[in-house]
Amino acid sequence: MKFFIDTANLDQIREAHDLGILDGVTTNPSLMAKEGISGEEAVNAHYVKICKLVHGPVSAEVIATDYEGIIKEGKALAKLNEHIVVKVPMIKDGIKAIKYFSSQGIKTNCTLVFSAGQAILAAKAGATYLSPFIGRVDDSNWDGVQLIQEINQIYSIYQFDTQILAASIRSSLHIVKCAQSGAHVVTAPLSAIMGLLKHPLTDIGLAQFLADHAKAAEAKK
Ligand code: G3P
Repeated sequence: MKFFIDTANLDQIREAHDLGILDGVTTNPSLMAKEGISGEEAVNAHYVKICKLVHGPVSAEVIATDYEGIIKEGKALAKLNEHIVVKVPMIKDGIKAIKYFSSQGIKTNCTLVFSAGQAILAAKAGATYLSPFIGRVDDSNWDGVQLIQEINQIYSIYQFDTQILAASIRSSLHIVKCAQSGAHVVTAPLSAIMGLLKHPLTDIGLAQFLADHAKAAEAKK
């Protein structure tokens, strides 16, 4: 199972990378805007900075929604760095573009996926990654984790190569549930990744060990 961080914040990417468990990064236009990054030059420079930090797949999303525009932007993004994965929305022209990128050996991440039907189309087009937004599915009173299970079942039956990249993760529990459900990759905010470290019994147990060690050292004096 691979871990990506879902942010464009360089400090957070660095922190997750320092933990030694980070495999890649996903971004989107909202996350770039949150960092105050705008304009083609600044956006591209930021992607290059992220690639240099992580040395793993970095999803960079196209803004165009027409076939020609997606192809032009995607090719330019892919040229920025060997680790760039072109993120393409789940729309008709997006699927056509994914098919083209796949034929050219350009890696893609099909984003804004909310149904198993969409997942089948993306896999047929040859997407490298598929991003079901499980938190947003939950927000609309459906079951995001169940969607991962459904897609995993279908991909397993047909042995599709597309990797399920569970996105829109809201908690550490989401990460565990996605792992149980066969997601190949989970992209999560730093808080959800770091939350995996936590258990009250770990803290209580460690405090006890350290206290006993100190007591024994004191007794020996
Ligand atoms: O990777 C997609 C993700 O950034 C969307 O997350 O929390 O905006 O639904 P969220």
